[in-house]
Amino acid sequence: MPVSRRMVGTVFVGGALVLTLSALAYPAMLGVQTTSASQDRIIANTQWGPLTEADRDFVVKVRAAGLWEHPLGMMAMQRGTTPAMKEAGKHLVVGHARLDLACRKIASQMNITLPNQASPQQQQFVATVDSKQGKEFDATGVAIMRVTHGQIFPVIAKIRANTQNTMVRQLADLANDTVLDHITVLEKTGLVNFDQNNFQQTTPPKLPKDQLTPPPPQPGAPVLTLSIPKGLGLENLDTKSPAALPSADVK
Ligand SMILES: [Fe+2]
Repeated sequence: MPVSRRMVGTVFVGGALVLTLSALAYPAMLGVQTTSASQDRIIANTQWGPLTEADRDFVVKVRAAGLWEHPLGMMAMQRGTTPAMKEAGKHLVVGHARLDLACRKIASQMNITLPNQASPQQQQFVATVDSKQGKEFDATGVAIMRVTHGQIFPVIAKIRANTQNTMVRQLADLANDTVLDHITVLEKTGLVNFDQNNFQQTTPPKLPKDQLTPPPPQPGAPVLTLSIPKGLGLENLDTKSPAALPSADVK
């Protein structure tokens, strides 16, 4: 079933989860290298265990990933030129809708302020892909997304290895699964240039911190919901990472 242009970037306002700005101070330094000591600082003691600066930043990072990958996935579903590209789009949309649900739940229970917009750099990623057509659209989208997923992958592992907060641990499990799935579907497009990818993954451009930080939400603004679009048969899409055992379709 075709995706209408109107559905691209579909987000709607969820009524239930409204966070106050008295919530945990917004991570102004998000995405910027901070000392390990400040990242280990406990900012709240919760019934799920201590919540550190790094834990809180991770929840916000997962949220921000969805805020740009969800609309990009919708674009890929509509404008991808191959079945594999459209399939990748579906996995991005559904994976981030599921992750966003978990993220909003954790944020509301631990009083973490979530952004409603991705960082300026991430918004630029979407604009760059949106400006391309045809095969260039596919190639640009895959290149940007494969690099960013490769960069976030070790961040998830570090949080999973170190957090003492059981809810953050669950989010890290789900994020790990989702990112592996996204890496896999992007590779299945056959468009990943690994030499270029591996270079860009390890040498990100040095940008000022405001380019890497999602803007804080407007005071009193409801938390946007990233949803699975209805009527496209996406509700049961399997977004788990590939099985660990070698499978017959590995080439
Ligand atoms: Fe993703």
